[in-house]
Amino acid sequence: MSGTPSGGLRDVRAEFPIFARRAALDPYRPFVYLDSGASSQKPEAVIEAQAEHLRAHNANVHRGVYALAQEADAAYDGARARIAEFVGAERETTIFTKNVTEAINLIAYSWGRANVGPGDAVLITQMEHHANLVPWQVLCRERGAQLRYLEVDADGRLSLAQLDAELARGDVRLVAFAHVSNVLGTINPVAEIAARARAAGAVSVIDGAQAVPQMPVDVDAIGADFYAWTGHKALGPTGIGVLHGRRELLERMEPFLTGGDMIASVDFQTVTWNELPYKFEAGTPPIAEAVGLGAAVDYLDALGMERVREHERALTAYMLERLREVPGLRVVGPPDARERGALASFTIEGMHPHDVAELCDRAGVCIRAGHHCAQPLMRCLGVGATARASLSVYNDRSDVDALVDALVAGREVFGL
Ligand SMILES: Cc1ncc(COP(=O)(O)O)c(C=O)c1O
Repeated sequence: MSGTPSGGLRDVRAEFPIFARRAALDPYRPFVYLDSGASSQKPEAVIEAQAEHLRAHNANVHRGVYALAQEADAAYDGARARIAEFVGAERETTIFTKNVTEAINLIAYSWGRANVGPGDAVLITQMEHHANLVPWQVLCRERGAQLRYLEVDADGRLSLAQLDAELARGDVRLVAFAHVSNVLGTINPVAEIAARARAAGAVSVIDGAQAVPQMPVDVDAIGADFYAWTGHKALGPTGIGVLHGRRELLERMEPFLTGGDMIASVDFQTVTWNELPYKFEAGTPPIAEAVGLGAAVDYLDALGMERVREHERALTAYMLERLREVPGLRVVGPPDARERGALASFTIEGMHPHDVAELCDRAGVCIRAGHHCAQPLMRCLGVGATARASLSVYNDRSDVDALVDALVAGREVFGL
């Protein structure tokens, strides 16, 4: 039974061409991919949609009057409509960026520089990825504002009481936080945090990079002012990110980048901006990537995000249980799979995480090791780095078994 997906999900592994290959270091071993938190693999449907666009419908968008250019327009704007619908957002307030990092920088520049000043505070959390930390640090430094952090407790959770206490200080202009932590796996109560921020007059920004690929997300129901995510972790291509913003805020904001496509008209000394969402899309956008991401959300939609979540929750529970068999192994984050996304970050006493990842690679198992772009969180956890195994729709129990076998064998190499 170990190869059977759980949660009613159909077995999709054969739909991902990369799984036809063998392990990079040993052609006799199967290829086991447990690094989808860094970037997911792509189904044939996505690869083919993007290739077919480039083969048969390629032209620049919003410029050409000829029929082929209009096919490209339809493909690009059609992808946007499907991507927006997939997460319960509106087409006009769904902006394509290069990745989630650029989406958060867009908010920090366009909203932050106009609305945050001396005496104000930006509130983020200790579990943020650098993408949702460095832009706020730079903004606060430039604008003479204070950057404050919500703490992470021993089980990797945030405290709503601390949130209330911070908001009660009356100076918080913006609250930015991850939907799902890329290190701890913690699923944060995003709607609750966004509602409390709003009641205190603060704008909320959610980094949904780890959430959209693995659970149903309804941006409208969450009620955040900004929600950002990235295509390549959600079975889509690299080079495309998505920002959903509240219309009133987007309409009042100045553009982040300027140049072509984001203008309504330009004279020698003056310029007026295009309508949403184009005001925030300067230059030729990621057209083929949008088509690919459109195919990715169609694929996820057809699988059913409830089933995806249930499959990954059950597999995470199995992974947590099996990791307990490895002596000296400590998993960080919430102990219960119901409270976490599909990953486990861990340390093994007596082994550096990089050695752990390298020994796993020799066994054909790809996992990540390092600070996971969350150096301040590593300091809170009292470690320099962790190893991390992260799951997606194509993983099953046999992958977790291969990981545990590799870890047990790795300890032996180290004489542990
Ligand atoms: C929670 C989180 N935020 C942001 C990012 C950055 O994503 P990107 O490099 O696609 O901008 C990542 C990627 O690792 C992430 O896990």
